This record gives sequence, structure tokens and C-alpha cells, in this order.
Amino acid sequence: MTQFDLTPALAQDSKIAIYGTDAFEGMHKAGHLTAKALDEVTPLVRPGVTTEALDDFVFEFAMDHGATPAPLNYRGFPKSICTSLNHVVCHGIPGPRALKEGDIVNIDITLIFEGWHGDTSRMFAVGEISRRAERLIDVTYESLMLGVAAVHAGTAIGDIGYAIQTYAEGERCSVVRDFCGHGLGRVFHDRPNILHYGEPGEGMRLAAGMLFTIEPMINLGKSHVKILTDGWTAVTRDRSLSAQFEHTVGVTEKGCEIFTISPGGLHRPHFSSS
Ligand code: MF3
Ligand code: CO
Ligand code: CO
Repeated sequence: MTQFDLTPALAQDSKIAIYGTDAFEGMHKAGHLTAKALDEVTPLVRPGVTTEALDDFVFEFAMDHGATPAPLNYRGFPKSICTSLNHVVCHGIPGPRALKEGDIVNIDITLIFEGWHGDTSRMFAVGEISRRAERLIDVTYESLMLGVAAVHAGTAIGDIGYAIQTYAEGERCSVVRDFCGHGLGRVFHDRPNILHYGEPGEGMRLAAGMLFTIEPMINLGKSHVKILTDGWTAVTRDRSLSAQFEHTVGVTEKGCEIFTISPGGLHRPHFSSS
């Protein structure tokens, strides 16, 4: 990296919030509740259920637990969760569409609890799905976890993206460039941006106490996306299948704390054929 490139990166560094023990405790509670919401919605993900019914369930879950769904009315988003089906990359809006056998769907939940944001998403298989859809889900989950494994104080942001990109592309998949992970805490989307592609050593260095998400979107086809006329729904331009998983993490000296671990061990679907 040239000196010219380094200057803005350093300027950005100084503005990344560093959080302490109380914040980690708050994020742990918010992340745990959000992961529990995904666990509890899991049995509903079956042929015939509408994405709106999933949205209603999570809204009620939030109300019952003293939490607020962060997406609702966020920059005009009309629902409590995002449901992204098949070739939808992210930000799908729940509606009357019923899930059908063979669909894959990402459910992305962000809950605010005691002021802190937990943000997590997983893929779900509706009944039997194709072998290629299973493979995409496996590759995407591995991509997320390799990104998480790259996190520790002193590592560069580019190391996270590099870990994700080299693995996903090695599996003949592509990494979406138009959306990234993000800092969060008392706000939903904050600095830094966490790109899901990159080069080792590139970008700012992580410090213990930083809070952000990692949420790679991986496509079976090309990486290009477009936004539908609803202003939200992002789809693959080539209509290839897309998958995503997301965790919220806090950087520690030796690694990171994952705040959004599934209490029920339902991190990912398991396929009998794999
Ligand atoms: N949960 C999404 C993320 O991971 C953001 C959804 S914003 C919304 O950052 F407005 F589309 F809901
Ligand atoms: Co996010
Ligand atoms: Co999210």
C-alpha cells in the first residue's frame, strides 16, 4: 500500500469506537437474545409458511422479551426482519410469498436489547433442496467462520476478507462486493466497514474492544447484484443462488467473542448427503 493510500485509513482508525467490559456484557445479552430468536423461528421454516408469518413471529418474540426489532422503520424498511430467498442476496422484505419445498432462505434478525444491537442471520433449507444449494450453504457457513477465525487484536481488516474470499473462490463461488459487515453497538450501522474480500495486511488494524459484524454473501454464479424497484431487495444479476450467514463479534487480544452463538446449537442446517 502506498503512503497516499495509508493516510485516509489512519484517519479512519482514530474514529473506531473501543468498548469495555460493560459493553461486551450488553452485546452478549443482545446477541444471545437475537440468536435465540433465530433458534425459535427455525421450526416454522417449512413449506407453506409465508415470510410475513416469520416476520410476525419475530416481532412478537421481540415484544415478549423487551426488545426492539432494529430494521422496522429503519431508513424506511417496512418490516422487522429480512427474508432473502434463493437468488435474493439480502434485504428481502417479508410478504405473502409462501415458502416451498426446495427454497433456500436467509433470515436476518437484528434486535435492540437494553440499547445494544445483536445482528445475526442464518440460511434455512425448506424441505429437500438441491445438491448445489446445499453446497452453497456449506461454503457460505465455512466462509463466515474462517472470517471470524481471522479476528484478533493487531490483525488487519483485509485479513478477514482475504480468508473469506480465498476460500469461497477456491470453491468456485463468488463474493458479493456491494454489501459489507459493519461496526455496531448502540447504533445499527457504524464504522468500520468489514469487506468480505481483500488482501492480507490491507486496511486498518483491529484493536481489542471493537464491535462489528461479519456477514458474507456468497453466490453460485457471478458476484454482481442489482436492487429491485422496492428500493431494498438485492438480487444476483445472473439470478444464481445466493447465501449468507452473519455473526456479531467483539475483538479480544487473542481472538474474538461471538455474541450470536445459537443457544440450541442450530448454527447451520445439516445435510444428510454431505
Ligand atoms: N440486518 C441487516 C444487516 O446485517 C440490515 C438490515 S437493514 C434493513 O446489516 F433495513 F434492511 F432491515
Ligand atoms: Co449486519
Ligand atoms: Co443482519
